[in-house]
Amino acid sequence: MKLPVGAKLTGVGAAVPHRIVTNADLENLVDTSDEWITTRTGIRQRHVVSDNETATGLAVEAAGDAVAFSGIDPSIIDLIIVATSTPDNLYPSTACMVQAAIGASAAAAFDMEAACSGIIYALAVGQQFIGSGTYKTVLVIGVDIHSRFLNWEDRNTCILFGDGAGAFVLQASESENNILATYLRADGKGGHLLSIPNPGTAYPHAGTTPPKAAHRFLQMNGRAIYEFAVNAIPEAVRAACARASIRPEELDFLVPHQANQRIIKAAAERLGMRKEQIVSNLDQYGNTSAASIPLAFADAIRRGQVTPPSTCALVGFGGGLTWGAAIVRWTAVDSRKLSTVTEQREKQQLQETNYQGEGASHE
Ligand code: UT7
Repeated sequence: MKLPVGAKLTGVGAAVPHRIVTNADLENLVDTSDEWITTRTGIRQRHVVSDNETATGLAVEAAGDAVAFSGIDPSIIDLIIVATSTPDNLYPSTACMVQAAIGASAAAAFDMEAACSGIIYALAVGQQFIGSGTYKTVLVIGVDIHSRFLNWEDRNTCILFGDGAGAFVLQASESENNILATYLRADGKGGHLLSIPNPGTAYPHAGTTPPKAAHRFLQMNGRAIYEFAVNAIPEAVRAACARASIRPEELDFLVPHQANQRIIKAAAERLGMRKEQIVSNLDQYGNTSAASIPLAFADAIRRGQVTPPSTCALVGFGGGLTWGAAIVRWTAVDSRKLSTVTEQREKQQLQETNYQGEGASHE
């Protein structure tokens, strides 16, 4: 469905903790090997939070990076959506804490949860708020700290995940629309295949009885998720392309959720995409859940793999089960790279004149 106002993607950003845990480090924790992890997953290392780091802290850093990329002042942000399944608290939401920390005093803020597909769901929601004319500037963040929910004695799961955050800035535009289509799916029947039961209210006396170890940690049927993912990625990309009225062959890049290099390769082959069209940084960061797509995308832009203009399929899958894709037309230039003051002014002016409609509804 074509929305009356276009959503322009004007910024992307990312953040990871400083501490790096290599495959060799994991060899000291569980019965595994660098060789097994590299060949079965493609992961070589991951970033893991220290005791004093939080989801909010990472989200704030990624938000700052995306805001600086777009060149906006945080005071013009109308809405902050944080996709996370590992928030600092049940409430206040991570989004509210980000709002305070970055000085987005005019912004509404809420968290949403769709596990590793969260950033795709959040982009779709942000686009709807812009498309309906409700808001002009939306900050969308994906952040997860799975390391706090991993059983570090379980080699089936602890080798896969890393911590991180990624963010996008969406702005209303009368002349340009960068989110060409989205496609979201869920299948709760597969919920048991990937879960973190605690902290939840399904267990009586959750506040007084310590949770059983089995409920405290991430649980996963790896094989089943693998098979689900290699089908879900091509299905979501094809369906989103159909909604955008483009053929998958017209895509320049595939930016998949970074879970396993074998999943990415198998799904890309089904879509007929070449190696150089695949955006991946899984080897450096592991699976960062809701953060993985913007983290990979920001990295690809920094490395010069993705340059504007490019048509990209962002595609996620994960717990819920959830999956989905967004077809985006990337045209933005990093404000920090604009060399002259005149160029910077021109970009700022363009952003201010992008949308001359009514002000945000909460003003
Ligand atoms: O955001 C979504 C999150 N989850 C995923 O994306 C997970 C998707 N699934 C996968 O990535 C893969 O299924 C895994 C990487 C988890 C596992 O790879 P696999 O090729 O499916 O291996 P497997 O589970 O079939 O296990 C093969 C063997 C088993 O040993 P036996 O029973 O054949 O003797 C495992 O016990 O590998 C063993 N194994 C390991 N060995 C060394 C499992 N984990 C490890 C390990 N190191 N870390």
